Amino acid sequence: MSLAKSRKMNPRQLATDVLAKLDVSEICEQVEIAGAGFLNFRLKNAALAQTLQAAGRGEHLFFERAASPRTVLIDFSSPNVAKPMHVGHIRSTILGDCLARTLRLLGHRVITDNHIGDWGLQFGWLIVGWKKHLDRAALKADSLGEMERLYKLVFAASKSDEKVLEEARQEVVKLQRRDPENLGIWQEMRDLSLSQFHAIYQRLGVRFDYTYGESNYHARLEFLVRDLIAEGIARESDGAIVVFFDDVPPLKEHPLIIRKSDGGFNYATTDLATLESRLETWKPDEIIYVTDGRQQLHFQQVFAAFRKWQAAISEGRVTRVPHIQTPGQGLAELVPPKDMKLAHVWFGSILGEDGKPFKTRSGETVKLADLLDEAEERALRIVSEKNPDLPETKRKDIARVVGLGAVKYADLLPNRQSDYVFSWDKMLALQGNTAPYLQYAYTRIRSIFRKSDCGGTSYTSPASSAQISDSQSSSLRIEKLTAPEEIALAKHLLNFGLTLEAAAEEYRPNYLCNYLFELAGKFTAFYENCPVLKADDATRASRLMLCDLAARVLKQGLETLGIETVEQM
Ligand code: ARG
Repeated sequence: MSLAKSRKMNPRQLATDVLAKLDVSEICEQVEIAGAGFLNFRLKNAALAQTLQAAGRGEHLFFERAASPRTVLIDFSSPNVAKPMHVGHIRSTILGDCLARTLRLLGHRVITDNHIGDWGLQFGWLIVGWKKHLDRAALKADSLGEMERLYKLVFAASKSDEKVLEEARQEVVKLQRRDPENLGIWQEMRDLSLSQFHAIYQRLGVRFDYTYGESNYHARLEFLVRDLIAEGIARESDGAIVVFFDDVPPLKEHPLIIRKSDGGFNYATTDLATLESRLETWKPDEIIYVTDGRQQLHFQQVFAAFRKWQAAISEGRVTRVPHIQTPGQGLAELVPPKDMKLAHVWFGSILGEDGKPFKTRSGETVKLADLLDEAEERALRIVSEKNPDLPETKRKDIARVVGLGAVKYADLLPNRQSDYVFSWDKMLALQGNTAPYLQYAYTRIRSIFRKSDCGGTSYTSPASSAQISDSQSSSLRIEKLTAPEEIALAKHLLNFGLTLEAAAEEYRPNYLCNYLFELAGKFTAFYENCPVLKADDATRASRLMLCDLAARVLKQGLETLGIETVEQM
């Protein structure tokens, strides 16, 4: 329609012209012109069956790898040192990990960087606390808890006592001057925090290629500010160094301070320096930052400042050389890829069932480790009720997969920009759009294969591997697809790739969640209406293949969400 409009043509005439030049006879029935100028395509069942057959042979799983892979850096999770990770970090961790998995599956080069907050003013209070009030035994038992206690203690004291505040300031200055004692304390706090973070990542199956953290860029800040001034991008204003955005209407009223009037650098300075370093090191085509919505303005400003810098490069105003030599590579070139994309993937808050920010009963922020424990405990109760006869280790393993899966899915399913209400009962329900429902659907398909050795064919689906062996594939063929539920399921399988691409393109894993939920529904409709094990040999083989492909897509889809499956629940 829009093409006809722009060509000032009658849409029906245009449709006729297109149709005359179109050859899709291999995959479609006769294409028809309808209505005001629509083209109706009807997929040939034989073509559908062929595609499924190729998937059955392990040639594809309904998605294609990117023809020109891009290098994408994802900055996510990024908790702060000396503080326990809380539920607020869960969305960044889970979303970021899912985006990394999706992009990797589609064949892109993905670099994950955990940009931990390991530098800044908070270390003033922490070091004062460490030197005066540290309880080594408590540190050993719960290091993050003890560091948090120290921080809160000294922070509160500094509110009423100027002297404590000054002391904290001095400790930061000493740390920045690399005083050996303070540096040692800082290092210990960082190491302890990282080992706790690591335990959580391990549990969640989340992996980072790098954990450089803010401290890694500290040495650059001074030079960066100097260069931005020299290039006319930043200037002095009331003693501070500022980037003004007079030419960027929405940011006119929001200049970006990159050096405070007291000479200190801030979050923005660090993010610009980090950007510069990442360009030198990886030359990414895209950088994705995953944080909560409250940081929107910050990233708009940082991105706008970067665009000024990019413009300066293309106008030849930038003369700087990289400050830091990349090991083994010499001085990297500083020119960013021409159409480098910067994306802030932000998300809303997690609310309690009362609609207020999610807290413990005593009003504290919920710690992530406690939350995951509770998920597993609750899932164990449900699993034990359903399968009292399973051995305990087995029940615990299922509970781990189901509990963690439920928490992750509940986080990925809502539109990421809206707040969502955290509800144990909802996320653990076996009915509805939940991880346990999908995991259960998967086990149901798998159980068909456990039963399928009745009547001759003994077939174990290689659902866990992408490949299917020749002897197995020869016994299962998609002969023809006849029942409407069968065709609907087959067509839905074909949409897997489009869904993955849309989820990656718009950074919206909820597309994938909903796709899988629909897949499970279509499978149920198929299974209720189309006999599989009791069908004649040819139909049985064909339908078993369809079951297997549905299981494989379900498993791959869940894996892309970061969710495991089990064979039995
Ligand atoms: N540490 C920050 C926080 O907890 C998140 C950092 C996000 N990444 C970045 N490059 N600014 O809020």
